[in-house]
Amino acid sequence: MAIIITIDGWSACGKSTLAKALAKKLGYVYIDSGAMYRAITLYFLRHHIDWTDTKEVKQALKNITIEFSFNTKTQESEIYLNGENVEYVIRDLVIAEKVSDVAAIKEVRKFAVSRQQKLGEEKGIVMDGRDIGTTVFPKAELKIFMEADETVRVERRFKELFEKNPNVTIEEIKTNLEMRDYIDSHREVSPLRKAEDAIELDNTHLTEKDQLDFALQLATGKMVEKITIA
Ligand code: CDP
Repeated sequence: MAIIITIDGWSACGKSTLAKALAKKLGYVYIDSGAMYRAITLYFLRHHIDWTDTKEVKQALKNITIEFSFNTKTQESEIYLNGENVEYVIRDLVIAEKVSDVAAIKEVRKFAVSRQQKLGEEKGIVMDGRDIGTTVFPKAELKIFMEADETVRVERRFKELFEKNPNVTIEEIKTNLEMRDYIDSHREVSPLRKAEDAIELDNTHLTEKDQLDFALQLATGKMVEKITIA
């Protein structure tokens, strides 16, 4: 029976790698909630929105449509902002530098969370982010909270971004991850924290296969539990 799986955790600790692999194995839909906040940030930057002004934010959100579409070539779901595929451009450090400020805004969270909840209505979904197990799907059947040592996270993100932009530095990435983790865990609305019933997964020394096996075992257990109870 289909369930909801949430994966929350610190920046660049491999949430999306695990979420994508898990969704593929289970035939579930994968939704990258962080991509929504990144897409909104892109819109705000492009349209010079003053996000300290609530009125301006509310007006801007009315002009934003966010959709996910499955790319059959890459076999991955990609995000569209007002009809434009922005999956690639939102990964830029320019966006990463502002996204946590934008994601801390109450109106922005309301906008994103309601869309995320709609996407989960039919279950059979893996969603990763910061507040998915606490706020978006507090009743999810399986919640995972991921972490990894900071040095490992910085190295992973550096490798990823260096492929696209050889000018990026380790120092910049480290500063960005630390800043985002601080803002994300200290904001007033839905701060990043482990849900009480989430299972911790530290993947500092795990391979991608190890972490997938661990999560698959948990997911299968929850599915069986659900069938037994039903
Ligand atoms: O991939 P990475 O872990 O670096 O970040 P992401 O998942 O793309 O999320 C980018 C940013 O969006 C985070 O640093 C948070 O500020 C925000 N975010 C959030 O507030 N709530 C979520 N559910 C997901 C992301």
